[in-house]
Amino acid sequence: MHLFITLISILLIVFLCESHEQCGKINRYSESEVCTAEISEYVAAVVEHYPNQEPNLSSEERLMKNTEDFIRILNKIDQNLDIIVFPEATLYANAKMNVHDDALPYATKIQDTITGVSLCSSKGNKEEAAFLINLACAAQNSNTYLVANVIEKSECNDLENCAKDGWNLYNTNVVLDRDGAFVSKYRKFNLFGEHYVNQTAEPDISIFETDFGIKFGMFTCFDILFRRPTLELIEKHNIKHFIFPTMWFSELPFLTALQTQHQWAQRHDAVFLTSGANDPKRGSGGSGIYQGKYGPLKYGIVSEGGSQAHVATVSTHPPEAGGLDATQIDKTAKQMDNFFFLKDDLSLYTSKILTPNQHQYNEQLCSGSGDNNQLCCHFNIQINWNDEILNDGKDHYQYRMVAYSGVRSFSGMYNGGLEICAILACTGEEIGSCSGRFGNYNDVSWPVTFNKISIKANFTIDENKVQHPNSLLSSIRPLPVNAVEWLHRYFQDEPIVEWNYNLIEAQSRLFTFAIYGRDFNRDGPPSTKNTKSLGNINL
Ligand SMILES: *[C@@H]1O[C@H](CO)[C@@H](O)[C@H](O)[C@H]1NC(C)=O
Ligand SMILES: *[C@@H]1O[C@H](CO)[C@@H](O)[C@H](O)[C@H]1NC(C)=O
Ligand SMILES: *[C@@H]1O[C@H](CO)[C@@H](O)[C@H](O)[C@H]1NC(C)=O
Repeated sequence: MHLFITLISILLIVFLCESHEQCGKINRYSESEVCTAEISEYVAAVVEHYPNQEPNLSSEERLMKNTEDFIRILNKIDQNLDIIVFPEATLYANAKMNVHDDALPYATKIQDTITGVSLCSSKGNKEEAAFLINLACAAQNSNTYLVANVIEKSECNDLENCAKDGWNLYNTNVVLDRDGAFVSKYRKFNLFGEHYVNQTAEPDISIFETDFGIKFGMFTCFDILFRRPTLELIEKHNIKHFIFPTMWFSELPFLTALQTQHQWAQRHDAVFLTSGANDPKRGSGGSGIYQGKYGPLKYGIVSEGGSQAHVATVSTHPPEAGGLDATQIDKTAKQMDNFFFLKDDLSLYTSKILTPNQHQYNEQLCSGSGDNNQLCCHFNIQINWNDEILNDGKDHYQYRMVAYSGVRSFSGMYNGGLEICAILACTGEEIGSCSGRFGNYNDVSWPVTFNKISIKANFTIDENKVQHPNSLLSSIRPLPVNAVEWLHRYFQDEPIVEWNYNLIEAQSRLFTFAIYGRDFNRDGPPSTKNTKSLGNINL
């Protein structure tokens, strides 16, 4: 008995010490709130940034002007932040950036180890570029963690794998703490072209722990479409909070920015802090704070071009997701009229058009062949057709059910395996028109209302495959989480998972409703055969 009590008190002391230590770190909350190890509420900001557009700045001027923007945006936020995330590549965007020599003047050294010394202090020999030191001082002034995406230069002397000038360059996210001291860095692995920087031999697994008790993982832009390092952070390291700087090029109908971010956050039930570069004429924009299955807390696209900060509190009890009414969707959709979109090539998809006045569909479409590569999609749809609107002379979207198991090219940069079941809005009769949008939103009306959609398909269980719930409204925002169900089931003795994506709230402004699967087994470098570069994008 005595021993038992001693044991209990030792356990209790250990527990108290631990929670005390935790609380000591969470200084902002420890005074006013009950002190438990479970407090993990934090205030995050993500920044959408429209970079300086002047063509002829020196590298120093360009870096400084964009850094001043960052600091101005940070200083305008009137809440106490725990962390702020800035987007990919906007510190040097619009500079000529093709080869190593173009990038070097924009690059900064970043230390490899944590020393706890603020980059803003006068101590130590500062090897970082001036712009990074300024950001460190801004983090210190605002008492917040700060994440910025920079070009990193790293000294090399291995003759075989080293540029002639002795520097390897990386597309790197750098994290500074509340004091402006180095905490962590991540070198982007899945490069979207970007021939001016190096790829690491293996993906960086970059995880850092904060003084508010949260462990973050990081990855960048194109990484989101791949297995490594993103899914490894989840599966091997159990990370639940992610930082994602991006310069995304939105593509219809599956990969617009918020749609892609949302499907990832929802699929993995992850807290996802996404910060996007803004440039509507190139299709860039879209930032948000997502809380997994609870949906986005804040998100947006500055459709007319510009910068914006989104601030939200991530807590264990997020507010309930709101619905969307048609007026709200239309208002946002109209603002997207001048936004540029890439178009996916759907020519190899199996598809079937939904014909006016048929109210019920129960169909199966298959694509691909072979045990591993055949995909069959089951569609169960209930539709209302409004005759009056059908005859109003305005532009109407038609809808197709589609299935695809195959390979695509991502703008000629890389090939990726896909397994997709979807209902898509099309501007015409042809499948090719299902990645387009009518030019003037005010000329569009909506005769088709989907009362219910159920899409089901079986996928082989494979660590190299992942399926997402993918949706898009005319506003170029995903459906609210409470309008859908995303379900799965397993079957005894069969290595398959059946995913079922349901629309459970009637919707008439639908662009995309899909199970978007990636099959990493079929990924590969771009080939000259069988790839169509649709983007003509140079990052
Ligand atoms: C930028 O430089 C180019 C080439 O030197 C010149 O033709 C152009 O007029 C300059 N543009 C501006 C806005 O100064
Ligand atoms: C990095 O890129 C440079 C320039 O393209 C190249 O010479 C060097 O070998 C690369 N280093 C590594 C580690 O791949
Ligand atoms: C998936 O496979 C299971 C087991 O073979 C089967 O019962 C189910 O109907 C299949 N689902 C679909 C959508 O094909």
